Amino acid sequence: MTEADLASIATLEVGGSRGPAGWIEWNRRNYTEHGFGLWLIEKHSGDFVGDCGLTLQEVGGEWFVEVGWHVRSDAQRQGYATEAATAVRDAAREAGIEHLIAIIRPHNVASRGVARKIGLEFEREVHKNGGLALVFGADLRNDASTCRSGFMHDGWQGAVP
Ligand SMILES: CC(C)(COP(=O)(O)OP(=O)(O)OC[C@H]1O[C@@H](n2cnc3c(N)ncnc32)[C@H](O)[C@@H]1OP(=O)(O)O)[C@@H](O)C(=O)NCCC(=O)NCCS
Repeated sequence: MTEADLASIATLEVGGSRGPAGWIEWNRRNYTEHGFGLWLIEKHSGDFVGDCGLTLQEVGGEWFVEVGWHVRSDAQRQGYATEAATAVRDAAREAGIEHLIAIIRPHNVASRGVARKIGLEFEREVHKNGGLALVFGADLRNDASTCRSGFMHDGWQGAVP
């Protein structure tokens, strides 16, 4: 994701106060500081569909890796978010992330559907950014003794802030 994608990002409901330019800047900073961030979702034709990827998010005083997604309105309900989030989840597992979460507002039925389809289950309610949010999550390692907190990765650089 670069400044060249500004017009595309402007078509998404990214919410928050960052705006499209701030969104791209935040994403670039994430790659620099943590080695991961959001990817663009594109069709094989190269047409822009949305974004999906990994960011660090604070929940209840702990930092977790979150999978996030946005699909442009005219491409929704065609499985793009599920396809992208499945690939991101698998990449996170391969990178050694132990526990993956998605933070979703209660009314966001579509995102709850995506979370469910990639195997994330409801974990808890939290207050975040001025409102109630639901945390969905999954342990990515098969080992039952997996530690749920934070993240562990040998391949990616960067520390929990
Ligand atoms: C959330 C979002 C990314 C979903 O993208 P999408 O490509 O349409 O999602 P999918 O087609 O993969 O849908 C996956 C599942 O989610 C659920 N879902 C998706 N859209 C839905 C809707 N409008 N109403 C109810 N359920 C919905 C369904 O269970 C669906 O599976 P199904 O089609 O087999 O029934 C998209 O709606 C979006 O960008 N919304 C605005 C931004 C946003 O909320 N981002 C997330 C912030 S946490």
